Amino acid sequence: MASEQTINALMCGTGEYTTGWTGSGASQSDKKIGVVALTLFDLRRRGKVDHLAMVGVNGKKFPAIREHLQTNIAGAYKDMDVSFDEFPKNNLVDAESYKQAIDKMKPGEAVIIFTPDTTHYPIAVYAIERGLHVLVTKPATKLLSHHNDLIALAKKHKVCCWVEHHKRFDPVYSDAKARAATLGEFNFFNAWMSQPKSQLTTFKDWAGKESDISYYLSSHHIDVCCWILQDTAVPTRVVASAATGIATSEPYNCVPQTEDTITLLVDWQSTKSQTHKGTAVYTASWTAPLKAGVHSAQHWYYMAEKGEISVDQAHRGYDVTLDETGKAWYNPFYMKYSPSESGHFDGQRGYGYISIEKFIDAARSVNAGLTTADEYDKNGFPTIANTVLTTAILHAGRISLDEKRPVGIKKEGDLWVLE
Ligand SMILES: NC(=O)c1ccc[n+]([C@@H]2O[C@H](COP(=O)([O-])OP(=O)(O)OC[C@H]3O[C@@H](n4cnc5c(N)ncnc54)[C@H](O)[C@@H]3O)[C@@H](O)[C@H]2O)c1
Repeated sequence: MASEQTINALMCGTGEYTTGWTGSGASQSDKKIGVVALTLFDLRRRGKVDHLAMVGVNGKKFPAIREHLQTNIAGAYKDMDVSFDEFPKNNLVDAESYKQAIDKMKPGEAVIIFTPDTTHYPIAVYAIERGLHVLVTKPATKLLSHHNDLIALAKKHKVCCWVEHHKRFDPVYSDAKARAATLGEFNFFNAWMSQPKSQLTTFKDWAGKESDISYYLSSHHIDVCCWILQDTAVPTRVVASAATGIATSEPYNCVPQTEDTITLLVDWQSTKSQTHKGTAVYTASWTAPLKAGVHSAQHWYYMAEKGEISVDQAHRGYDVTLDETGKAWYNPFYMKYSPSESGHFDGQRGYGYISIEKFIDAARSVNAGLTTADEYDKNGFPTIANTVLTTAILHAGRISLDEKRPVGIKKEGDLWVLE
């Protein structure tokens, strides 16, 4: 049996989540040096990945990105090689440059997609059809039909296609999932997730035009709920409602169709008992107050036959108060940026890091013939097959808002479809 080899990886998207660099300079959010590139540089230091490349749209951004990574990653942690190959090259601007970058890769290598929501699908298709393993950020796709296509393609090409739902690796969430399994029939789930209204400026290029706040934030807790209820209940009907008026007013002036706060009300049917039905409410907002002390407010409540679970992921009993900025709550369990005693990067236990490492481990294991890509569907990993109901609910929610009607979700043969 072959042993696991290092793997080469391409990062698609050079933005906030990948590098911490945004169009207007270093990010002011909680991801100042990003997540994806930092994790891959550290996985290279640890001997799991080898050659790295990055593709965006505007090649002119790379000198500033390299300087930012050199100063804030190579300059902050020991033994960090921040080199990567760039696309498009020569300062060109090319939205299809991902094709050139992918054409240079060999089957079995890895592609990690953190680009705007509407581009996930074409990039993932292009990569999978060339035998590459794909990790795509949430929301995997906007349309359920596209999600179904990716499931079929990944199966056909025998590659890992995972969705980067890192909350599945949060120890609190995975413990809560195990406890929920002991509480009997599901009854009620309520999730809230919000970011400050300053995000409407950060996201002004796409907010309300290409995607909405439900896709952007509720994707997280819809996935957590689908994961908890996997094999015990299925969603059957979605009704959405939205609050408006802040995003479209001064000083944000988003396009007229931009919602502020979106709520999806979802009916769930137990797969074990006809009489047991549950209700879930997933709300997301990007018009939450500034200076709330957290970048993302996020809490949820789960009730079942024999008990209840409450999680407040934003406040973990750790706060810092500064004269200038007041009190803030931090979450080093997600990404820990402070270095180790030896001066190395020390965030290997963060669930933002683990989520990427587990995908890289799976891809290497499949390449070595130790596992097959479909084995991961059986283990609760966020594979494209295991996340289909998340997309079904999000897409149904969008249709419900646009067409002002309830949308049914049902299974036709092996395929989940909307009514
Ligand atoms: N998992 C999370 O917690 C999380 C957090 C933030 C963002 N995201 C997701 O990541 C994605 C990007 O978010 P971000 O905050 O990094 O955004 P961003 O706007 O900072 O960056 C987007 C990047 O995508 C690039 N891009 C756009 N079209 C492209 C194309 N055709 N080919 C290659 N690159 C292209 C842009 O050049 C830019 O570098 C979104 O889907 C978002 O939902 C996930």
